[in-house]
Amino acid sequence: MDFRKKTIRDVEVAGKNVLVRVDYNVPLEKGKITNDARIVASLPTIKYLLENGARKVILMSHLGRPDGAYVPELSLGPCCERLAELLPGIEVRFSNMIYGPATKGAVEALPEGGVILLENLRYVPDEEDNSEEFAKQIVESTGAELFVQDGFAVIHRAHASTDAIAKLLPAVAGFLVEKEVSNLEAVITKPERPLLVIVGGAKVDDKQPLIEKFLPIADQIAVGGKIAADGYKSVDKKIYVAEDFACDADGLRLDIGPKSVGVIENMIANAKTIVWNGTMGKVEDEEFAAGSLAVARMMGASKATTIIGGGDTVGFVESLLEMEKGLEFNLLSTGGGASLELLSGKKLPGLEILQDK
Ligand code: 3PG
Repeated sequence: MDFRKKTIRDVEVAGKNVLVRVDYNVPLEKGKITNDARIVASLPTIKYLLENGARKVILMSHLGRPDGAYVPELSLGPCCERLAELLPGIEVRFSNMIYGPATKGAVEALPEGGVILLENLRYVPDEEDNSEEFAKQIVESTGAELFVQDGFAVIHRAHASTDAIAKLLPAVAGFLVEKEVSNLEAVITKPERPLLVIVGGAKVDDKQPLIEKFLPIADQIAVGGKIAADGYKSVDKKIYVAEDFACDADGLRLDIGPKSVGVIENMIANAKTIVWNGTMGKVEDEEFAAGSLAVARMMGASKATTIIGGGDTVGFVESLLEMEKGLEFNLLSTGGGASLELLSGKKLPGLEILQDK
């Protein structure tokens, strides 16, 4: 799929201070990163920049929702430590200030060919306010000459680090954004058919636009999860809604039942492209993970193009991949909200603002 935005391949990066927006909004437990997939996903862009002579790479990200206040548990320090482990031989430093003289000093002191991560952008309200002044301060303090958007998961937000900053510097996409957008756009514009879309999860409001967007595009849509359990009614013969459920002692429908699993497995067996967003049941409870497990295993073994979106679904599949070998997926999207908005046909501000090819 052609990617319509300029990427780091299309511009000169040699000799430049390059400012990269990454998304290191990773899950943390007691200060420890429990899933580093988003940090790992940022490596190809960082390595490319360094291998192609970028002078210094300055990374910026948010973590959690501190709402413009300093929340020590949401420091990006642990992410910087993990990044340093993933980039052996490269000088990786942390700046606990986002901008100002201390940041300027830290960037100047960084040896050429080094990487520095700025502290959590959302420690100040200006980030979410999309403040141009804030963006200017970051550019001035870091000496940035090029902006690279590689935080796919945050690309649906119009914040200072995704929007305002892209108006101040030449702005191009990194490899993660290119990969995720191309794969997801290909699914909605020219999928190999039959295209099956499996929708589940708990947030009905989020999934309704997804079903509507795919109705004219998909060959089949299978609905499970809480939406089905709550009685979602099919409005088209393409839409199959789970018809039996596994329930708890109170009769709450917490997973799809064996009959529905069988129907969806048949659909998977016939599909050439499969998009899955939203688990089939309450997967955190092993007893109600059977439906999702069946879908994941069958998709992972299928020859079709397989795309998984949504934080919970991706997390579920990632833990399965750690336990079971031989399963393969084409794209495990790092962006929950971002992938959902893209697939639902919404424009993503952080993507639109980048330079066209
Ligand atoms: C995400 O985890 O979906 C992104 O990092 C965006 O985070 P947000 O929903 O807090 O803007």
